[in-house]
Amino acid sequence: MSPNKPLVIAHRGARSVAPENTIAAARKAVEIGADMWELDVSVSADGELFLMHDDTLNRTCNAEEVFPDRAPWNVKDFTLAEIKQLDCGHWFNVTDPFKQIKAGNVSIEDQQAYDGEQAPTLREALEFTKANHWAVNVEIKEQPDEATARMAVEKTVALVAELGMDDGKQVVISSFEHEYLKNVSELNGQIPIQLLTSEIIRNPNQYLADYGTRFINPKYSAWSPQQIKELSAEGIAFTVWTVNDELTMKALINSNVNGIITDFPQILIPLLEGK
Ligand code: G3P
Ligand code: CA
Repeated sequence: MSPNKPLVIAHRGARSVAPENTIAAARKAVEIGADMWELDVSVSADGELFLMHDDTLNRTCNAEEVFPDRAPWNVKDFTLAEIKQLDCGHWFNVTDPFKQIKAGNVSIEDQQAYDGEQAPTLREALEFTKANHWAVNVEIKEQPDEATARMAVEKTVALVAELGMDDGKQVVISSFEHEYLKNVSELNGQIPIQLLTSEIIRNPNQYLADYGTRFINPKYSAWSPQQIKELSAEGIAFTVWTVNDELTMKALINSNVNGIITDFPQILIPLLEGK
């Protein structure tokens, strides 16, 4: 195994073969052998933290069926108790978003188990991670206002500390909202922060220094693999998303990235093992 082997990070869990941002997707990523998973933190109407990528509930949960009069099903309008009534697994079996059911890569037993899967709270997700002696990249989504953002950051940091997961190994916190990450560091300097970006950042060394981190998580199209290689040699740790094709995976492995976030850990792992 190469000393520069990047971390394999299962995006929203192993979301090509299980419903994203659920414990089922996390469990699948553990089975596959990913080093960690990535998840998205949202805030319910009553201020509870739970896992959801979108601002609305209807793509991945049966909100339209359970709450037909609540269009457009904005996350911020639903309490956790209401969200817990939703089935956030069945859609995966119906839409087969990565065509992995069609390809025969999701067993009938797994499909049956996905029916009725709930959106987990952040606490449930962290407890699952801890129980499996695993690691997680917690992405705090952009919040509708400053007060909610502040509360999301404070509750996330407090929960990570309460569970004893603020040792720098089990949890990293990422966000496109870099000021949120500044708040994370002010509250608890032990939790690593990773700056998400869709675009190239000019003078990244200086920019990262301002946030007291060396970790940056760019979209795969921001910096070229060659640029990443050069900046990695200067000490910047890149974790690139979302990388699903083998050619890009190989280029990034050769660029000494810190990690690769992928919907297909089942492709990346054999690649790293030279299979
Ligand atoms: O953490 C990387 C990636 O998850 C950021 O984009 O939209 O998938 O949350 P998104
Ligand atoms: Ca994410």
